[in-house]
Amino acid sequence: MSEPLPAPETLTLPEAAAEFAALAEEIAGHDRRYHQEDAPSITDAAYDALRRRYVALQAAHPSLAARDPLASRVGARPSEKFAKVRHRVAMLSLGNVFSDEEVQEFVERVRRFLDWPAETPLPVTAEPKIDGLSCALRYEAGQLVVAATRGDGEEGEDVTANVRTIAEIPQVIADADVPAVLEVRGEVYMTKADFAAMNARQEAEGKPVFANPRNAAAGSLRQLDPKITATRPLRFFAYAWGEVSALPAGSQFGMVAAFARYGLPTNPLMRRCDSVAAMLEQFRAIEAQRAALPYDIDGVVYKVDDLDLQRRLGFVSRAPRWATAHKFPAEKATTLLLGIDIQVGRTGALTPVAKLQPVTVGGVVVANATLHNEDEIARKDVRIGDTVMLQRAGDVIPQVLGPVLEQRPAGAAPYAFPDVCPACGSHAVREADEVVRRCTGGLICPAQAVERLKHFASRNAFDIEGLGDKQIEVFYRDGLIARPQDIFTLEARDTRSLKKLKDREGFGETSVRNLFAAIAERRSVALHRFVFALGIRHVGETTARLLARHFGSVEALRDTAVAAADPASPAFADLTAIEGIGPVVAGAIVAFFGEPHNLDVIAALLAEVVAQPPEAVASSSPVAGRTVVFTGSLEKMTREEAKAMAERLGAKVASSVSKKTSLVVAGPGAGSKLTQAQALGIEVIDEDAWLVLAGTAG
Ligand code: IVH
Repeated sequence: MSEPLPAPETLTLPEAAAEFAALAEEIAGHDRRYHQEDAPSITDAAYDALRRRYVALQAAHPSLAARDPLASRVGARPSEKFAKVRHRVAMLSLGNVFSDEEVQEFVERVRRFLDWPAETPLPVTAEPKIDGLSCALRYEAGQLVVAATRGDGEEGEDVTANVRTIAEIPQVIADADVPAVLEVRGEVYMTKADFAAMNARQEAEGKPVFANPRNAAAGSLRQLDPKITATRPLRFFAYAWGEVSALPAGSQFGMVAAFARYGLPTNPLMRRCDSVAAMLEQFRAIEAQRAALPYDIDGVVYKVDDLDLQRRLGFVSRAPRWATAHKFPAEKATTLLLGIDIQVGRTGALTPVAKLQPVTVGGVVVANATLHNEDEIARKDVRIGDTVMLQRAGDVIPQVLGPVLEQRPAGAAPYAFPDVCPACGSHAVREADEVVRRCTGGLICPAQAVERLKHFASRNAFDIEGLGDKQIEVFYRDGLIARPQDIFTLEARDTRSLKKLKDREGFGETSVRNLFAAIAERRSVALHRFVFALGIRHVGETTARLLARHFGSVEALRDTAVAAADPASPAFADLTAIEGIGPVVAGAIVAFFGEPHNLDVIAALLAEVVAQPPEAVASSSPVAGRTVVFTGSLEKMTREEAKAMAERLGAKVASSVSKKTSLVVAGPGAGSKLTQAQALGIEVIDEDAWLVLAGTAG
């Protein structure tokens, strides 16, 4: 989404007018694509948002209403190929609500408008919102005389000949009570099964297929040749009316019952509700049946039942005040899974994306959908070639729900998730308890490069002043810095280059000079900063310090990490023996140094910078250089304090006893580590002795 729009009332009239005009044009375009071309290009929700903004602008600046180009229009102008029919009563649209609260507000608004007492029930009908196209059928003396599409609400297309081919629609209403003039309105639709069969036929004949039943119904009704329409399985539900010479009933419910008596198809799921709770109950009941219904619906329509109240309520711009549509959140569709792309996120996470045969879900063409991760693919067992069920909820990214097993092609194999990064070819590994597989290419992976570079230059890493996120983005984009080592060759390359940094927009001579100075200053950097800057997974500042202290040089760390490829190796044990480093962190370090690309980067960096070992520690201390293990409980200090003290004195602290251990500090309750130390003949002292040794006793 783009930036939030300014509140309409904060705009000046000229600003509001400009936005209003642009919006009107945009909405008119969407109306045309939706109504005339049966090819909407935005979601219903996005369209509704445009409409809401349009109304809000008018509300804040009433003078705009006078030049409202959409005022009298619903939908788009009728297509040129059909004769036009002027609707004697405008064919309007419906407002939308999306939540229980908004349903409540709708009812409250109606009650307020009517000044209807809270304790008096206000019956409202609730019925499915059919996903088809609306159509008006005019009967005179019981004879069907004209059928028209909605068009722009004022004028529609004459589709009489086509409508006559729809078997469900009576040509003649024989009922004795039928009004002399009766304009019935309702929805022309196609069932899901008929749609699938028709598409299969179309495909077999090499003809175009439709994206969904709605488009199929619209395309079929708007055929110039009624013979073609006759071959299309169209149906109809009557739910509203236009001009009627004498209303056969005083309520919405009664009107629909009359339509049924006249032999018109009506929807059996319509109920009359006396409260918001009952409306919501009916909404949920219909929603629960949605998938099983033979036709597509996209919500529930609520209508104030009493026709006198409907008249009093009237209309606001394009929609009745007495009705609204409660839309369902998600749309489903099935389509073919053509392939699975692996995208690499900026942290190296590999995300599988379904490549789909484009399909319309909720009015929007979907060609990609997330598959989340490796386990999700396995759990759903989606395979390339499968027909999959898709879901789109509001403006959320479409999701693949699962395969339609009956349609699985023979030979479709379970999907094998790649174990190399598609962006850089490095190994992609998964840690225990992690669902995400990640690229280990870190520094060289183009998908991660920018974020890695930002991290490299950041405050707690190389801390290069003047090389912030923005500069890195620009330098990366322009090919000046692709890998960390490039930072240190920037000045030399700039000297040789004709297009100098100082001549670029946003870089003055001084700032460039300062930047080069800041970079030069970091040619000598603390070892822990160097280690942290590498961006090894799980190696934050603290761990970087531990590693720096333990190994004393990049080379020593690298050699151990490379030798630790085998978790059973002594090198791996050496890593995990460092207090604060467990198998997960050790595994990440090993994976990082296991990538030749990363070793290349490190070598190139070491040619440019010197990583300074941690400050020379008090070498006079009797524990300097020794590897200490603390075990059992300590009474005069915490484990952390003891550890910090030992490290301050130049000792290494390990968590387990090995041959390298030179001192064990055992408190009460010490167990196996103590026994092990004794078995290995390692010096064991208690806490007090430790404090004496450390020189802080007393
Ligand atoms: S009543 C003045 N009832 O939804 C009110 N409309 O978004 C007239 N629709 O143009 C509409 N099912 O094409 C109504 N049960 C239903 C409906 C329904 C589908 C369509 C109709 C309308 C559109 C508004």
